[in-house]
This record gives sequence, structure tokens and C-alpha cells, in this order.
Amino acid sequence: MIPPAYSPSAERYAADGHMNYRRSGRSGILIPEISLGLWHNFGATDPLDRSRAILRYAFDHGITHFDLANNYGPPYGSAETTFGEIFRSDFRPYRDEMLISTKAGYDMWPGPYGNWGSRKYLMASLDQSLRRMNLDYVDIFYIHRFDPETPIEETLQALVDIVRSGKALYIGISRWPLDASKKAFDYLDRRDAHCLIFQDRLNMIDRAPVQSGVLDAVDRNGVGFIAFSPLAQGLLTNRYLHGIPADSRAAQGRFLKSDTITPDVIRRTRELNDIASSRGQSLAQMAISWVLSDKRVTSVIAGCSSTEQLSDTIAAVRNTKFSQEELALIDNAIG
Ligand SMILES: NC(=O)c1ccc[n+]([C@@H]2O[C@H](COP(=O)([O-])OP(=O)(O)OC[C@H]3O[C@@H](n4cnc5c(N)ncnc54)[C@H](OP(=O)(O)O)[C@@H]3O)[C@@H](O)[C@H]2O)c1
Repeated sequence: MIPPAYSPSAERYAADGHMNYRRSGRSGILIPEISLGLWHNFGATDPLDRSRAILRYAFDHGITHFDLANNYGPPYGSAETTFGEIFRSDFRPYRDEMLISTKAGYDMWPGPYGNWGSRKYLMASLDQSLRRMNLDYVDIFYIHRFDPETPIEETLQALVDIVRSGKALYIGISRWPLDASKKAFDYLDRRDAHCLIFQDRLNMIDRAPVQSGVLDAVDRNGVGFIAFSPLAQGLLTNRYLHGIPADSRAAQGRFLKSDTITPDVIRRTRELNDIASSRGQSLAQMAISWVLSDKRVTSVIAGCSSTEQLSDTIAAVRNTKFSQEELALIDNAIG
């Protein structure tokens, strides 16, 4: 008999193991405290073997949630294609153990129907995503951003109808402003299509969802919250303590620009690194722990460019408590 290509670790859900799970708002769904994001490092230009190794490592360590979007790559669509190829070869027998999300809302294809929040775009985009990922359905389908020109009823009803069609099990909303989010939660509840989860950027440097009241509203409405860029794209790690490594995201300069790594940023990062060391953590671990220390947060979506990074990041779940003194030191270092 030919052995299966991939046989996941029997220890992946070990009680004393690697991962904890939190309930997403008022729902039946448990999400790992750390989810894996495929925005970077899973495109057609990235080595397939490394993408496969990261996905296997994640699943072997209790990460059941994988976050994608139609335009992740580069080029657009290629992260879904990479995921689909590895899903077909490795993960198909484990589909029911996986929570897979995708999104539409940013520019994806030319012309007036490949961007923003129309019903036409969302429906067509999800069909394309399912084909690229070799899936019959996604677990969560997100509207990726707020469209100020499309009536929110059109966007939201498209999401409701997508769930009714069975092509997605749950609805997610990403980066909507406070007032529109509250209207959306209400609209969806009235149609028995409760919003499962809200996605926004939250990390030690960027606390906008806390400051704007979005996190509170999400919590009050029984919606889960999942934080993206918990490491500020790598700024809150040891990556830039001594300059800009050639293989880093800042060196690529697409979304993280090298000129953001100023001497002042490096000085503050070193201070944070010292605080992390005194907690017995790497800076990446402390950054993840800090986000998870807020119990309104369901999960963080971490990115990584190697299994070593993911292994480091995962250990953050062992210590998500902070003393008042540590929190004050962090606030002081952030400035
Ligand atoms: N909804 C939205 O609009 C939206 C927007 C952005 C992101 N997202 C989601 O959030 C996910 C995560 O975002 P992100 O990639 O910006 O996340 P991030 O976790 O803030 O940053 C990931 C980067 O940090 C570095 N890194 C990770 N672990 C490390 C470690 N242990 N030690 C040292 N360096 C480490 C790596 O940089 P190098 O690559 O330089 O090694 C890695 O690529 C995305 O993949 C996507 O799924 C959603």
C-alpha cells in the first residue's frame, strides 16, 4: 500500500499541548488562539515546499484556522491556489477539522465588477476562490472592507444568501467602521445569519479597535474578534533589532516600507525586547500574548516565513497574563 503523503501528528489536540481554543462570540465555534494567515509567503513566487512545511507544522500543533483572501499572493489568487494544491495532496481527509476563511472586497480583476462590495462581485469572487482552493465550501466568508458607495443592505444580503447557498458556513466582517458594523450585526441577526467574527488590526502599536469602541461593540453583539498583524508585520519581533535582513518583509518593501524602521523605532523595539526577555518570552511571543490578554479577543492571525518562526510564535499561548507593571513598561516603550 502507498503510504499517505501526510499523516498529521496524533498529538495535535493534546490537552497539555500547544494550543488553546476560544469561543467565537455567541456561537458554536471554537477557534485556536493562534490562526495562520496566508497574506504573505504563500504566493506563486514563494517556495511550495516551505508553504507546505508551514501548513503541516501549523496543523500538527493544533492550528485549525487558516485565513486567506481572494487577492493574497502575489499574484492575486495565488495564495489560494497554493493552499488548494496542498489541501488536495495533504489535508483533504482532514477537511472537517479545518476552519478555512476567505474574503473579497479589494481589487481582484479588471473592470467594474472585480472590486468593493456589490452582490455581483462577492458571489463571483467566492466561486473563483472555491475553485482555486479545491473546496466545496469555506467556513467563513468575509467582506474584506467597507464600501462607502454600495448600500450595506446589498453587501450584507449577498453574504446571507451565500450562507443560505451552503458555499460558506459563517459570515465575517473585516475593517468596517463602528456605526456600519453595528447596523451590520443587527441586519444579520434579523435574518438568523449572525456575524461569526470581526477582523481588524490590533497589536501593541496599533490599538484602534480598542480606542474606537469597535472591540466593545463586537463583544456586546456576541461576535468574535480576530486580530490581524499582531506582530505589526514583523516590527514587533527580533527581525529588525540589528538592521533590515535581506530576506525580511521590510526588504521587499511592498507593504512594510524600510523607511518605517527608523533609529527611534529600533530603540523602542529593543526596549520591548528587554521587557519580553524579563518575562521569559521572545518579543514575538510577548506581542501575541499582549493581544490575547484581552479576553474579548478570540484569536490572532499570525503570519510567518518559516516553521521556526511559527514554532516561536505558538509558544506565546503558554503565558498571556501581564502584571500592571509590565503593561506600564510596554506603554512607556511604545510612547
Ligand atoms: N483583513 C485584512 O484586511 C487583513 C490585513 C492584513 C493581514 N490580514 C491577515 O492577517 C495575517 C497576518 O498578518 P501579517 O502577516 O501582517 O502578520 P504579523 O504576524 O504581524 O507579521 C508576520 C511577519 O512577522 C515576522 N515573524 C513572524 N513570526 C516571527 C517570529 N516568531 N520571530 C521573528 N519574526 C517573525 C515574519 O516576517 P518576515 O516575513 O520578514 O520573516 C512574518 O512574515 C495575514 O496573513 C492575513 O491573513 C488581514
